[in-house]
Amino acid sequence: MKSSPGQQPAHIAIIMDGNGRWARQQGLARIEGHRRGIEAVREVVRAAGETDLRYLTLFAFSVENWQRPEEEVNALMDLLYHFLREERTYLLEQRIRLQCIGRVDDLPKRVTDEVREIIEATSSFTDRTLVIALNYGARTEVVDAVRSYCRAAAEGTENPESCTWERFSRHLYTGDIPDPDLIIRTSGESRLSNFLLLQSAYSEIYFSPVLWPEFNRREFFTAIECYKARERRFGKTSDQLQEPIPATAHHL
Ligand code: FPP
Repeated sequence: MKSSPGQQPAHIAIIMDGNGRWARQQGLARIEGHRRGIEAVREVVRAAGETDLRYLTLFAFSVENWQRPEEEVNALMDLLYHFLREERTYLLEQRIRLQCIGRVDDLPKRVTDEVREIIEATSSFTDRTLVIALNYGARTEVVDAVRSYCRAAAEGTENPESCTWERFSRHLYTGDIPDPDLIIRTSGESRLSNFLLLQSAYSEIYFSPVLWPEFNRREFFTAIECYKARERRFGKTSDQLQEPIPATAHHL
């Protein structure tokens, strides 16, 4: 486990909040905030390409977001669909793998189909992954993981008596995705809102006052610099982190 200050994050996850407030400030409809939010998504995805980041996770739609007015939900689905269609070429050119976390099958069919096709088309890329959280909620994820684990136990591929976190966590949507090093939330709100609650156990959290449509490349790099200045101890003491790594550990 690497922890020293100066370390680049390998995985950043973002709660993109504040589209509605931005739109209201501008005297625009909420959906215009989401439209501008998509531009910020494009800018941040491209900024991530300038770094060593291996995973970028974006919280696009939560299980709770279905409670919004139907018109807003439909507009968000429409924006998502067009975003995916337009980004497909970029992802293929840049060799970025797409993964999705959440109950993707419950989204409108054209969104699910587009997601599935891009996931398939980019599945061989290994260096960089864009993870979109779609119809995602951490508590729903736990329920789905427990169901998956129990099915596996019934089939005999898991044994509850020897269950460990390593084995159980493979049943989460993020089974093959490392935990986020840094979680960014925009718009000045200081909460995680049912996002990656188990995976964020040791994540650094950065709250930005900037509303998502105004979040840009510069803000993204500022968050990374802030992360690099932090000391991650993973339950150890500062002194322990200074201790030289034993020779045998190099072989691990
Ligand atoms: C929060 O702002 C934002 C959302 C619920 C949706 C985020 C979606 C996008 C940025 C566009 C789609 C994303 C991708 C990855 C293509 P809010 O509406 O809750 O803002 P408010 O709190 O100010 O009302």
